[in-house]
Amino acid sequence: MAEEGPPPPQPARAQAGTRDGATALAGQVALVTGASTGIGRHLVEGLAGRGMAVAGLARGGDRLTATMAEVAEATGARTLGVAADVTDRDAVASAVEQVVAELGQVDLLVNNAGLIDAAEEPLWEVDPDEWWEVVSSHIRGGFLLCRTVVPWMVLRNSGRIVDLASGMSVRARPEYSAYSVAKTGLMRMTEALTGALEGTGVRAFDVAPGVVDTPMTRSMPMWRGFEDWTPPEKVVELIAAIAAGELDAWSGRFLRAGADDLQHLCAVTPTGAARQLRLQPYGDDDPLA
Ligand SMILES: NC(=O)c1ccc[n+]([C@@H]2O[C@H](COP(=O)([O-])OP(=O)(O)OC[C@H]3O[C@@H](n4cnc5c(N)ncnc54)[C@H](OP(=O)(O)O)[C@@H]3O)[C@@H](O)[C@H]2O)c1
Repeated sequence: MAEEGPPPPQPARAQAGTRDGATALAGQVALVTGASTGIGRHLVEGLAGRGMAVAGLARGGDRLTATMAEVAEATGARTLGVAADVTDRDAVASAVEQVVAELGQVDLLVNNAGLIDAAEEPLWEVDPDEWWEVVSSHIRGGFLLCRTVVPWMVLRNSGRIVDLASGMSVRARPEYSAYSVAKTGLMRMTEALTGALEGTGVRAFDVAPGVVDTPMTRSMPMWRGFEDWTPPEKVVELIAAIAAGELDAWSGRFLRAGADDLQHLCAVTPTGAARQLRLQPYGDDDPLA
């Protein structure tokens, strides 16, 4: 992709500020990783239903192809499935190249792909390769996607990145050490990216989806018997609002589907380190306060 150079800048097609998602997003292009099931699939459906062309990535090509075809059929939107492991540098480069060649550009990148610890264990009991694979799926994956897609956004002075966060981004669970490390690291990546993007029209966000009923949560003993699932539409609604530019004031910060009220978020301008990861002082006399 880099050899061919970026496509010529195109006029902004989204109208940020409108609450009519379909109007705001029609004609935009989304790239969603981990698109074949769970939250990724809900995002593909929801964004396509709002008029976006949607490209999806996942490792398993058959399930991905079927998902993208079903969504295209149901919504009439343009979809594209590209099988790739987000931790594979060359695969990510060629996948993004294909997306740009076929859909023209990426307006919204959603770093959603990732793994969870295979069992609830203290970190010293986890197989080192498995532990690292979980961390890598979120961090190397998010990093490779960003380093491939963001330069094109910067050239167009427009684009938004959403990194899927979690309650474990801000508080570790001892039995999910790899996932906790991964999700906190991804938040740091969003913050570092946001700082580096200052002065450009490109923005990055952390979105925690709540607790959505997916293959991932079904595999986690801690959610056995849980029923108070976050409706996936809440995640879609929040990310669609980000794509439409309604939440730009929250760039570099953490939002939570199912807990945050969209209208309220639109009315608030966060300041300082609100909704960012920081060390909490033990009191006013803490020298690090
Ligand atoms: N569900 C929740 O309540 C919840 C809560 C907090 C945060 N999250 C976050 O939300 C995101 C989606 O979660 P989910 O519950 O929908 O997960 P899921 O049901 O396990 O789906 C994961 C998706 O990612 C793909 N994937 C996994 N590893 C990949 C890799 N290395 N390269 C490319 N694709 C990969 C999978 O397809 P293949 O296996 O075919 O690659 C699948 O499409 C994750 O980042 C998760 O941490 C979820």
